[in-house]
Amino acid sequence: MRQKLVAGNWKLNGSKATIEPLVSGILTGLKGLDNVAVAVCPPYVYIPMTQGLLSGGRIGLGSQDIADQETGAFTGEVSGAMLKEFGCSYAIVGHSERRAIYGEQDGDTARKFAAARKHGLKPILCVGETLEERESGITEAVVARQLDAVIALEGVEALTDGVIAYEPVWAIGTGKTASPQQAQDVHAFIRGKLAALNESVAAKVQILYGGSVKGANAAELFAMPDIDGGLIGGASLDAQEFLAICKAGN
Ligand code: G3H
Repeated sequence: MRQKLVAGNWKLNGSKATIEPLVSGILTGLKGLDNVAVAVCPPYVYIPMTQGLLSGGRIGLGSQDIADQETGAFTGEVSGAMLKEFGCSYAIVGHSERRAIYGEQDGDTARKFAAARKHGLKPILCVGETLEERESGITEAVVARQLDAVIALEGVEALTDGVIAYEPVWAIGTGKTASPQQAQDVHAFIRGKLAALNESVAAKVQILYGGSVKGANAAELFAMPDIDGGLIGGASLDAQEFLAICKAGN
């Protein structure tokens, strides 16, 4: 069956002083938890340092974004080739903060998904609705539209090279976690939508849940049949809390 993946998205947090104990705490605590896949996604500038601390061990390294371009005059961007040179194996694409704060559109996210794939990075494709969208009853339509942009560009088979993360925007950083059933309903919708196009893709693709996951609620979320792990924000900055989530996925 699908392995659980717990990925920490550190967002705009951390410093040289905090990352060293965080990574060594996670590495130590993961001993014996061999069944869960684990990854961390630091801010770009800390990727080389984190790569050194992870020293090729069992924790994957990822970026929080990726350029949709290869090279050239694109100030502020970091390409897939560059990320690959520093040991990344994942790249988050289309996080709701990129979409809402920086105006990233579905098409931009799809091109970033393609750029990550091209360089052998596993894109973690984030999808999810705002509170207003949920209350208007268009959660499924929003998630379908976000997925369709990637499927139109890359084809449904491409999704097995990546991971999907369902993150209801109203649950991110708010302390309001979706209930396991609310999350499961959308995960099942996503898997059903993919199954209509390609059953084997649907069966294989990992669908993570993100939004106020903590040690205390991870086990009940991960027990749902279509939830294959978590994309963790705030709780990934605390080694013990992050480890409790990893344990729930082990
Ligand atoms: O990428 C992670 C998600 O945005 C969840 O963040 O765990 O702080 O709610 P959170």
